Parts: sequence; structure tokens; C-alpha cells
Amino acid sequence: MLQADTSFCGISPRSAVGNTVGWLSSDFFPMATVRELLSDTWERGSPYEQYVGRWSRQVAPRFLSWLGMPAGKRWLDVGCGTGALSAAIVDHCQPASVIGVEPSEGFLKTARENIGDRVALLQGTAAALPLGDAEVDVSVCGLVLNFVPDPHAALAEMARVTSHNGTLAAYVWDYAGRMELMRYFWDAAVTLDPNAVKLDEGARFPICRPEALETLYTQAGLGDVQVASIDIRTDFVDFDSYWRPFLGGQGPAPAYAMSLDEATRGRLRGLVRDRLPIDSNGSIALTARAWAVRARVPG
Ligand SMILES: C[S@@+](CC[C@H](N)C(=O)[O-])C[C@H]1O[C@@H](n2cnc3c(N)ncnc32)[C@H](O)[C@@H]1O
Repeated sequence: MLQADTSFCGISPRSAVGNTVGWLSSDFFPMATVRELLSDTWERGSPYEQYVGRWSRQVAPRFLSWLGMPAGKRWLDVGCGTGALSAAIVDHCQPASVIGVEPSEGFLKTARENIGDRVALLQGTAAALPLGDAEVDVSVCGLVLNFVPDPHAALAEMARVTSHNGTLAAYVWDYAGRMELMRYFWDAAVTLDPNAVKLDEGARFPICRPEALETLYTQAGLGDVQVASIDIRTDFVDFDSYWRPFLGGQGPAPAYAMSLDEATRGRLRGLVRDRLPIDSNGSIALTARAWAVRARVPG
């Protein structure tokens, strides 16, 4: 197991990821790596694109089609990351404007490279959006709600910057169910180390279930709340193309994979490989389900 002294950089394990660091023990470790181990790190756009960004790019147009917004709307994409959803808004929705807000400098840099000047990119967080009241008509976020510290505050803030009768909408992975590429990973991780259950996104993110999303949006005082599933195929030509993105360190499962020493990571790799439905030609066909939610800001 990899060793880390969590006091070295002043990060409290409990505050960083809840009580989820049973697999860390104390010893010297560089600050950047400790932070990577203890948080849902979003710093480097390229590995994120390989891991999940490319799949978010497939969900985004289907989510927007479900929203069915008319042309000419002012859009906000909260936690825009490397720009998957923002790019889809530009490509499919004929927006009057698109603003992307994102806390990570690294992701903003990749978003700028990806979508250039088609989207106004601002640094900020969901709880303190750098926008005035009712400045947009539609506020969306893709794969973000479960990572914000206080989703209730985030929704209130998104409602503040959205016009009356405007739309708030989001999608999140079905971590506990049919986000299969992650489920195979975490189920194997927990088999090998029961402590990993505390890091499993299916357990960590109860908000990513349809009933919980509906309750969250309804309790925020929003109207006409609807939830739907969006399924996409996540196909891999071979096992290596499935496994390599987990070595990029961005996101909870890759961060966990990279926290293990090589032998332990090798055992995890082997168990995942044994369990995956690998076709005789080596390819792997999986499903990734997202839960989408939409609601109306009261008039
Ligand atoms: C899984 S990525 C999703 C990125 C992008 N929306 C997509 O669909 O590919 C999660 C994103 O949420 C952002 N994020 C994390 N905490 C946030 C917060 N408090 N407010 C806004 N965004 C946040 C991260 O920086 C990261 O870009």
C-alpha cells in the first residue's frame, strides 16, 4: 500500500473525503500526491477526457435533446470542466450565449483549448457563481452535483442567477447501478479490500439516485420536477483501453487505483479483467447510465 502523511500538507482526511481513508497510513509523501489521494481531484484535463470526459460528451447531446429548449436562450454550465456540455450547447441549442463556470484552472485551460471563444469561461464554484441575479435562462451541470460540498446551496445559487420560469437541469452517473465501467472497478476493489467500500462512488453519492434527485430539486422550491435515465454505450476495443484511463489519476476511481502499490493494483486489474464481459475478439461492451433531472424556477 502507498503511504501518506496526511498532516504533512494540513489536509484532514475526514474533511477531505469523509471517513474514507482507512487505506492511508502515515509516512512522508509529497503534498500534491496527498491531495490527489484525498480529494476528488480535477486538475488535468487530458486524463479526465480519456476517463470520463469522452463519455460525458455522449450524454450531453441526449440530455439537451431531452430538455428541448428553444433557440436564443442564455445558458450557464456549472462545473463545465473540460467543456463537454458547453460544447454540446453551442453545437445543438443555438444559444444566445453560453457561460461556463469551473473551479479548476487546469480544466479551464483544456476547456479554452477545446471550445475557444465560443463560451465565456469563468473561474468560480457552484456556491458562489460570478453572475448577477437572473442573468441566464437555463442553468445546467453535468456530472457535478455529487461533487459540490452543499448541493442545496448550489441549487439555490443556480436558481438565483436564472430568470423566473427559467430551467435548472443536471445529470449525474448512476454510480450505484448501471455506470458499469465504474461498477466493475469498485466491486472488484471492495472484494480485495472491504475498506474500499467507503470510497465506492455508489455508496458515497446517494444523491445520484432518481428519488434523491427528485427530492433535492423539489425541496429547493422548484416546480415541474422531472427525472429520466440516459443510457449510452461505453465500448472498448480491448481490456487495455478499458484499464488505461484508470491510471490517469483524475476522479475517485483513478485516484484510488493510483494510490495502490503496483502489486495491489495488479491484483485489482486482474480481478476486474476476470469479471468483465470480454468478447472473444477482446472487445468489451458496457452501458453507462446517467440520471437527468430538470425543473422550473418559480415565476
Ligand atoms: C466529473 S467532472 C464533470 C465535468 C464536466 N461538466 C463534464 O461533464 O465533463 C466534475 C466537475 O465538477 C467540478 N467541481 C467540483 N466541485 C465544484 C464546485 N464546488 N462548484 C463547481 N464545480 C465543481 C470539477 O472541477 C469538475 O470539473
